Amino acid sequence: MMEQAGILGLGCYLPVMKLTNKDMEKMVDTSDEWIMTRTGIKERRIAPKEFAASDLGVEAARAAIKDSGLKPEDIDLIIVATVTGDMAFPSTSCIIQDKIGARNSAAFDINAACSGFIFGIITAKQFVDSGFYKNVLVIGAEKMTNLVDWQDRSTCVLFGDGAGACVVGKSKDRRIISYFIGCDGSGSNLLRLPAGGSRIPTTEETVKAKLHFLKMEGNEVFKIAVKVMADAANKAITKAGLLCSDIDLLIPHQANIRILMAVAKKMGLPEEKIFLNIEKYGNMSSASTAVALAEADKEHKIKKGDNVALVAFGAGLTYGAVVIKW
Ligand code: COA
Repeated sequence: MMEQAGILGLGCYLPVMKLTNKDMEKMVDTSDEWIMTRTGIKERRIAPKEFAASDLGVEAARAAIKDSGLKPEDIDLIIVATVTGDMAFPSTSCIIQDKIGARNSAAFDINAACSGFIFGIITAKQFVDSGFYKNVLVIGAEKMTNLVDWQDRSTCVLFGDGAGACVVGKSKDRRIISYFIGCDGSGSNLLRLPAGGSRIPTTEETVKAKLHFLKMEGNEVFKIAVKVMADAANKAITKAGLLCSDIDLLIPHQANIRILMAVAKKMGLPEEKIFLNIEKYGNMSSASTAVALAEADKEHKIKKGDNVALVAFGAGLTYGAVVIKW
């Protein structure tokens, strides 16, 4: 069997504290019933106040390195996918590099929002297949609960905190056999965090106007998401020389259960082939697919020889998919 970039190890970390829909009923005008039927979310995890994205990412990274049987010094490159980095700069990957003692690695962040972990895996594959690096650590780490307006019921019920990670290196199994990424920048206004960047620097006024919280056109995003996720998955699956019916497990970005069921229907996949953990965690942006992949593995949802497809979409609008031969 040919060796190519594959998954050497997986790990994830979820904060202990849960915020349930019942808790949210006391915070905004909503109900457990509305949130469950419209989104499929029952609860989400909230990181402690003193935690930043790097603290979540460190835990997931350590778990993934341990799972791979490597040591932190064996890591050649760290890629962190995040929209909630500790600071605008330095990159969160540099902070994580120091915290885990991966002193031989280069490090950079990528921002592809909820598609970030998939973009990260694909980037890692280029470095591994070219022979430039041996072991690349890819992390999706997000503290989304710092970005939401806790008075806006249309967004605050959706998001949660968490991190997932994988080590990518040459492998005979769990090989990344194909991928696809895309972008539609004309949709960049549909999901954004307006202030704090060079366009609208933070001022007293921007804070008062709540421009430091994420803004979303939920309905528009919903419609586009179904189309681009199904398209991206189909493109990666076709490129792998497979049919949708050959996919044993689809691991989608956990944004909304109705989006995921519509994607499954479009792809002709039965519900039992879709990995779901949205009920427990909500949308953790780039950490969603990372945590889902690690959990699917831990829960023995994947067996040797399976075709696994990861698919995501996010702000940008970005979208992408990866097919892994387990
Ligand atoms: N509780 C109760 N009612 C709520 C609510 C909440 N948490 N949030 C919104 N509503 C209300 C709205 O105010 C609206 O009321 P109105 O009819 O009186 O104006 C009504 O519910 C319907 O709102 P609508 O926005 O049409 O609901 P929806 O079925 O589209 O669901 C989302 C809203 C946000 C759940 C849905 O659009 C969605 O999931 N979009 C995609 C978001 C996403 O995935 N983003 C991440 C991308 S990575």
